Amino acid sequence: MNDSGRNILALDGPAGAGKSTVARRCAQALGVTMLDTGAMYRAVTIACLRAGVDLADAAACAGVGRSARIVLDQDGLVILDNSDVTAEIRTPEITGLVSTVSAHATVREIMVGHQRAWAEHHDGGVVEGRDIGTVVFPDARLKVFLVATSHERARRRLADENAAGRSVDLDDLIADIDRRDQIDSQRAASPLKPADDSVAIDTTGRNINDIVAQIVAAYQGRA
Ligand code: DC
Repeated sequence: MNDSGRNILALDGPAGAGKSTVARRCAQALGVTMLDTGAMYRAVTIACLRAGVDLADAAACAGVGRSARIVLDQDGLVILDNSDVTAEIRTPEITGLVSTVSAHATVREIMVGHQRAWAEHHDGGVVEGRDIGTVVFPDARLKVFLVATSHERARRRLADENAAGRSVDLDDLIADIDRRDQIDSQRAASPLKPADDSVAIDTTGRNINDIVAQIVAAYQGRA
């Protein structure tokens, strides 16, 4: 039997549901490494822009994705072909374009290969994304699907944008979040949806420590 998911905690959910913070905190609590797969799709998007390919061209994007060297370290640094793109992957431009690139099945296949190789190399860990429990590790030990209201998610994004020195409008953020959710959940390739055997957690208004404790206990309970 394939047991590649033996040591995987899969964290999926829409943008702004709290995945990154929860993933980082769960990884710390469990003493394991974590992988932010959204950062990989963001880095590929930058690689495609740098290569000057049409982002709607699946084959061209896959060609770029195949040759791009993306390294994610545990301090959150994202390196693309030897250049540090940690800040650039979070810019509004990339946030607005990444859904187009990540919708290509050919690009996803390459990224999923890297994600499985990462898990094998680290003997598992916390992996966050959109399709981790449904496609990448369907046999994950625990699958969590995080949600929060669009208003709450936009409010969190607003705080991040302000912290990065950008001023944005809350209503624009809500509209952008709804637009991205729609693309991510309606695409043909690996749409965003909870795995049948996932545990759904609504993070709206909840204390992060409680959420982390709930997930860590559930994961350890399945050892
Ligand atoms: O989690 P994030 O906002 O950094 O993700 C960026 C984009 O990548 C988002 O539009 C959804 C996509 N994504 C995906 O399709 N599959 C994943 N496993 C992770 C992210």
